[in-house]
Amino acid sequence: MPRSDRRTRREILRLSLGAGALAASFNPTRAAWLPPTPAQPAGPFYAAFKPLSIDNDLLFLPGRTQRAEGEMLHISGRVRDQSGKAIEGARVEIWQANRFGRYNHPRHDNSILKLDPNFQGFGHDNSDQQGTYRFRTIKPGAYPDSPNWLRPPHIHFAVFPPGGAPWTTQLYFANEPLNKTDFLLQGLPTDADRARVTMALQPPAPDLEPDSRMGVFDIVLGTPGVRQEKI
Ligand SMILES: [Fe+2]
Repeated sequence: MPRSDRRTRREILRLSLGAGALAASFNPTRAAWLPPTPAQPAGPFYAAFKPLSIDNDLLFLPGRTQRAEGEMLHISGRVRDQSGKAIEGARVEIWQANRFGRYNHPRHDNSILKLDPNFQGFGHDNSDQQGTYRFRTIKPGAYPDSPNWLRPPHIHFAVFPPGGAPWTTQLYFANEPLNKTDFLLQGLPTDADRARVTMALQPPAPDLEPDSRMGVFDIVLGTPGVRQEKI
């Protein structure tokens, strides 16, 4: 990929900020607010062990020098409300299967899928003044949820806005064939909703590992009290 075709993380975040600011400035009425990111169920594999999270780097566990197996990803984005205002100080948590599709969770212990002893599996970050969060992780594998349902690669998100109730969703990857048959993703009402929880992976910015990829997932929290999940 030629260098000129790459966008830095900063540029992508700025574009995202610009789009949000534009929407807010030209559409001051409630009806024209930013559409919320669709909520999705937290599922059965929310972190079971304390501490729930160490940091926002799922690639390494303390005391281990070997990194988690799989394709390295950098995921970042901004947490905003529907007016486009950045939400600072939100705790953003993610949890996911390892590259083999296995969660490190007691409820997934009947799986024959392989554990990765180096994968943290769960992480958190706190959004900054611009609402920005970041994670380094690996691309999760698909896993069978039932005999007729193979879940596509996805990452679970929970956002805890200051003073607000937790909100959850799931992030999917663009161009995954299993997306088309996933009940949860296809259960969303519109293509636009599906697009809001689907992320395209891109070549890494120059300051990132050359063998990694990066993606941006902006989150717009809906009206408090609506479409929230218990976790
Ligand atoms: Fe899952």
